[in-house]
Amino acid sequence: MSSLKAATALAHPNIAFIKYWGNRDQALRLPSNSSISMNLAALETRTTVRFDGQLAADGLDLNGAPAAPAQVARVSAMLDLVRAMAGISEFAQVTSSNNFPSGSGIASSSSAFAALALAASAAAGLALDEPALSRLSRRGSGSASRSVPAGFVEWRAADTDEESYAVSVTGPEHWDLVDSIAVISEEHKAVGSTAGHPLADTSPLQAARLHGVEQRLAQARQAILQRDLPALAAVMELDNHLMHAVMMTSSPPLLYWQPASLAVIHAVAAWRAEGLQAGYTLDAGPNVHVLSAAADAGEVAVRLGKIAGVQRVLQAAPGGPARLLPA
Ligand code: DP6
Repeated sequence: MSSLKAATALAHPNIAFIKYWGNRDQALRLPSNSSISMNLAALETRTTVRFDGQLAADGLDLNGAPAAPAQVARVSAMLDLVRAMAGISEFAQVTSSNNFPSGSGIASSSSAFAALALAASAAAGLALDEPALSRLSRRGSGSASRSVPAGFVEWRAADTDEESYAVSVTGPEHWDLVDSIAVISEEHKAVGSTAGHPLADTSPLQAARLHGVEQRLAQARQAILQRDLPALAAVMELDNHLMHAVMMTSSPPLLYWQPASLAVIHAVAAWRAEGLQAGYTLDAGPNVHVLSAAADAGEVAVRLGKIAGVQRVLQAAPGGPARLLPA
C-alpha cells in the first residue's frame, strides 16, 4: 500500500468572456451553454489534501482559519467523489489559501475547486488526465472546469458527465492581454452563483441568450486566435449584457451592478472612443473586469483608480494550468 496520501496543487481563477449561466443538470453541473474564459496568472489558490485514517471527519482550513460548515460540506462532497473513484474511505484534512484578498469579491470557487480536485485526486493515488480532472472540478464548481487547462479555455456544454469538460483554445503566451479588476465591493454577495444558476430559466430572456450563444462562442474563439481586442470586446460586452439581462429579469431578480460598476462601464466606453482599446465584463457581483493590451494596462489601472467607488485594482495576465506543487 502506498504511503503517499498527501498532495498540494495550485490553480488560478478565471474570468469568462462568454458566460456560464444556468444548468441543464444542476446536480452534475452540466451547463446550459458552453463558455470561454482566461485564467488569471497573478491570482492563485494553493490547496493541500491529506487523507488520514486517524481522522473522524473531513476538515477544512481556509486562509488560516477553520471554514464554515457549509464550505466544509461542499469540499466533503468533492472528497466523496474522489474516495469513490479511488476506492478509499479515509477522511481528509484540507488546507487552502488564496494569494488575493479573500474579501475582494474575486470569484475564488473556480480556482478553489480546480486545486482541490487535483490535490485530492493525486493524494488518493489517482493520475487523472486533463479532461477527467476538468470533469471532476466541474462537479465542485462549474467554472472550476475552466481553471484546469492553460491560458484561454473553452468548456463545452453536453448532455453527459463524460462529455462536458474544458480544453485550452490557446496557451497563456499567445496574447499579452491583462485583466484589470476594479474592486467595488468587498461584501459577500446576497445571492451567489450556485443559488443563481437555477433562476436562469425563470427569465423570459434566457432562451434568447442561449439561442445566439454558438455564434458568440465562434466570434470569441476567432478574436482570441487573431488577437483582435476590438472584436473580443464587442462580443464579450454583448454576452455580458445578455447574462445580466437574464439575471435582472429572473424571479426573484438579481441586480449585481452597483452605481460604481456603471461608472466604470461608461468610463471604458469613453476611453475607447478616445482610442484606448479595452473591454469590460462582470461576473455575479459588482466588480468590473477590464481587459486591455498589456502595454495599456498601467494607464487602465491609473484611470480605474480615479473612479469614485473603486476601492482597489488587481491585475492579471493569462495564466497557466492547474498543477501539482512539490511536497
Ligand atoms: C457569472 O461556477 O461560480 O461567474 O457551479 O454554482 O459554483 P457554481 O457556479 P460558478 O458560476 C460562474 C458564473 C459566472 C460566469 C462564468 O464564470 O462563466
